[in-house]
Amino acid sequence: MTQKPADLTSLQRAFLYPRFSTEATTDLGLEIISDIKKNGPIPFSDYMDRCLYHPKFGYYSRPEAVTVSREGDFITSVSVGPLFGKLLALRLHRFWIANESPSHFTILELGAHDGSLASDLIHAAAQIDPVFAQALSYYISEPLPARRKLLKGKLGGKATILGSPDELRCKIGALIANEVLDALPLPLFFFSQSNWHEILVSVEKNSLAWSLRPTETFLSGNYPEAYLTEGSPNFQKLLSPLSECFEKALFLWIDYGLDSDSLYHPSRSAGTLRCYRKQRSDAHPLDHPGEQDITADVNFTAVEQAATQLGLKAYPTMNQSRYLTHCAKDWLLQQPSPQEIRQFQTLTHPSQFGNRFYALELTKGNPQRAFP
Ligand SMILES: C[S@@+](CC[C@H](N)C(=O)[O-])C[C@H]1O[C@@H](n2cnc3c(N)ncnc32)[C@H](O)[C@@H]1O
Repeated sequence: MTQKPADLTSLQRAFLYPRFSTEATTDLGLEIISDIKKNGPIPFSDYMDRCLYHPKFGYYSRPEAVTVSREGDFITSVSVGPLFGKLLALRLHRFWIANESPSHFTILELGAHDGSLASDLIHAAAQIDPVFAQALSYYISEPLPARRKLLKGKLGGKATILGSPDELRCKIGALIANEVLDALPLPLFFFSQSNWHEILVSVEKNSLAWSLRPTETFLSGNYPEAYLTEGSPNFQKLLSPLSECFEKALFLWIDYGLDSDSLYHPSRSAGTLRCYRKQRSDAHPLDHPGEQDITADVNFTAVEQAATQLGLKAYPTMNQSRYLTHCAKDWLLQQPSPQEIRQFQTLTHPSQFGNRFYALELTKGNPQRAFP
């Protein structure tokens, strides 16, 4: 039986965007258009990878661009103020004590951006317990050279900036990553005419445009016509070298996301991909390549599965409101300043950061987890 062609008009409807970009494109857009004309359409994951991490034009490769801040395209829990770093420092302090207060304790941060979380956490550690602060060695793994340079300048001797986690080996420590998993390139899939298709980026009328290619069944079950969703990044590839860094460790991932059943519910028919630009999340994914953030909700079930396959232990995800409230227990009894209380409210209120963000803890090597 011949397969009916996928309905491209319904792809346009599912995305709620025109099928091809109508804006004048960027230098990166011109480069991608020229490559597609030469070599053919590319998977969306390749497009997203180039938009975010192209060495010269990528969204995260240009430290001079104002991206993560109130003046930029979006804010994170770190932008709310130093309290986020303090609460994570309290969490790690509890873990450090439960594991017999080792004299050397390594923190590895991913996606450190401009180093604010590192500064906040190191500063808070010294206030919480000087012996803990003395034991800390803070590392940042940052694959982008321009960002490594910025971090070295900003953090000076406070942290060691690595190009890859392969360079780190230690007995005990913790990994922290706030809003990193949502920034990893991923494929897009589309269900139309009873078949699954992978969404590609092609060129039409000299502009970037969507196209499709048939693919194996991405999800089994009853999905409606024009169901659009995203696959997961290769979490195992990310986690595998990280888990090699530590003999014993706590890994803490904080991000927006869902479990697999919710993410792939038939009613979630437009997926979760979105692009942030100037504090709005409705920019067209094919517009402004390299000049806007591209992100999607994290499939926490897929992260847990990848971790378990690598021998790590995964604990149930907890929303940020509950998670930070547990971290904050002792601090809340110490009469925090009104400014800190305001930050705490923003970080934990369900309508702000409290209910959209989740914390996932993993452990390696059976340490005492000491939580909640
Ligand atoms: C949304 S930003 C992080 C924001 C920052 N953590 C904060 O909370 O303000 C995502 C960052 O993850 C970084 N990133 C992506 N993949 C990475 C990897 N494999 N290792 C380390 N950093 C990575 C990107 O370069 C980017 O700087």
